[in-house]
Amino acid sequence: MAIKYTPEPFRIKMVETIKMLSSEERVARIKEAKYNLFSLRSDDVYIDLLTDSGTNAMSQDQWAGVMIGDEAYAGGRSYFRVLEAGQDIFGYKFIQPVHQGRAAEKVIYSLLLEKGKYSISNMHFDTTRAHVELAGGRAIDCNIKEAEDPKIRIPFKGNMDNKKLEALINEHGAKNIGVVITTITNNSAGGQPVSIANIKETSEICKKHGIKLCIDAARFAENAYFIKHREEGYANKSIKEIIREVFSYADYFTLSAKKDAIINMGGLVGVKDDAEFFQLCKGNTISYEGFITYGGLSGRDLEALAIGLNEGVNEDFLKYRIGQVEYLASLLDDAGIIYQSPAGGHGVFIDARSMFPHIPYNEFPAQALAIELYKEAGIRTCDIGSYMLGNDPDTGEQLKSTFEFTRFAIPRRVYTQAHFDIMAEALIAIKKRAGQVKGYKILWEPPVLRHFQAHLQPL
Ligand code: F0G
Repeated sequence: MAIKYTPEPFRIKMVETIKMLSSEERVARIKEAKYNLFSLRSDDVYIDLLTDSGTNAMSQDQWAGVMIGDEAYAGGRSYFRVLEAGQDIFGYKFIQPVHQGRAAEKVIYSLLLEKGKYSISNMHFDTTRAHVELAGGRAIDCNIKEAEDPKIRIPFKGNMDNKKLEALINEHGAKNIGVVITTITNNSAGGQPVSIANIKETSEICKKHGIKLCIDAARFAENAYFIKHREEGYANKSIKEIIREVFSYADYFTLSAKKDAIINMGGLVGVKDDAEFFQLCKGNTISYEGFITYGGLSGRDLEALAIGLNEGVNEDFLKYRIGQVEYLASLLDDAGIIYQSPAGGHGVFIDARSMFPHIPYNEFPAQALAIELYKEAGIRTCDIGSYMLGNDPDTGEQLKSTFEFTRFAIPRRVYTQAHFDIMAEALIAIKKRAGQVKGYKILWEPPVLRHFQAHLQPL
């Protein structure tokens, strides 16, 4: 039975019109886009679930903040607001704004990694992996095995496999491990949370071997909400207390503020207490991003960020936010549609392999489902599977992904219950005709991150 939808803890003051094209128009548009969802115009999309990053609706307080942002090159008032909010929430001494998450990665990983060094993570997000490799390092994923089976329901499916972590450190030698990264929530595994117990254990292993621990904090507030509701001993702690404890176990963090800080652009680097290392981060920021007190952002962005950081940890908001995802998941349970379960924080990841068992990985089942969703209801999602993974750089062979997920990433404070019903109805309609859906072949692809630009053709 579907669960009750958690009512919005806000009312709507400004709206953006969206329209649904006719079925014939959608079929024509996706063909013109060469079956690549990234090539569609957003005006041709009815419900846009491509990402929850930067697609959030700001509050009236944030928009008011935009008007009072201080655009000074140096020493701006809005910069100090961000520092105060960041220091208060994360409990770190040093906070550096940057323009988005991957900018934070560039600032910090270029200092921690070089040729011959490794980064080990519960799972690297693709930009994180890219910055590890750009710095000359190699990225190793160290997720728990359970994360790889969509049907296994455990509370903290995003955890690091700490036994394997220890074994990897011993295999490669502690001096060759540049950094250990815990990604919260674990986006690539389906927005799955990581427990405090797991982070604490990872931290102890890192300390024992003298390795730095960095949190990829993109969805830090959602992760804290899951800890409060799923981990023993945290039910009576506030979200802020939980966040403080989580971050106390790490040395640094990178943050894409485009997610849980509910803004359209922004990011942070955090350094707990190492003033010398922070000095190096500031140097990189000036080279790559801009002066320290704006870090690639306008004063108005900084002001909205400072306000959004506090709105994002509000418990009524988080209850509604996670409730939306759980509502969609419960509709899918009723319909027997398999997804990475339990549902994660920022979206539902549909298991396209079980929807289309007749489409092999090299004909891209998750991309096929994303295309069907657009044709069915104007919904834009994306493939997190073999299509996104690409080819082996040495052999040029198509790689086989652990998952074939079609991701429904939910923007914050944007869609209502009726939109969620449409998402579920579209999936149910596709499931009924699943046997007729065909796979795709790639006609053209660029050498890196091909999924953004490739041209496809139905088989
Ligand atoms: N880390 C994680 C876990 C992320 O999910 C993202 C972005 C980044 C880092 C990079 O941040 O985009 O601000 O540079 N994830 C988005 C997504 C793009 O759709 O999942 P960014």
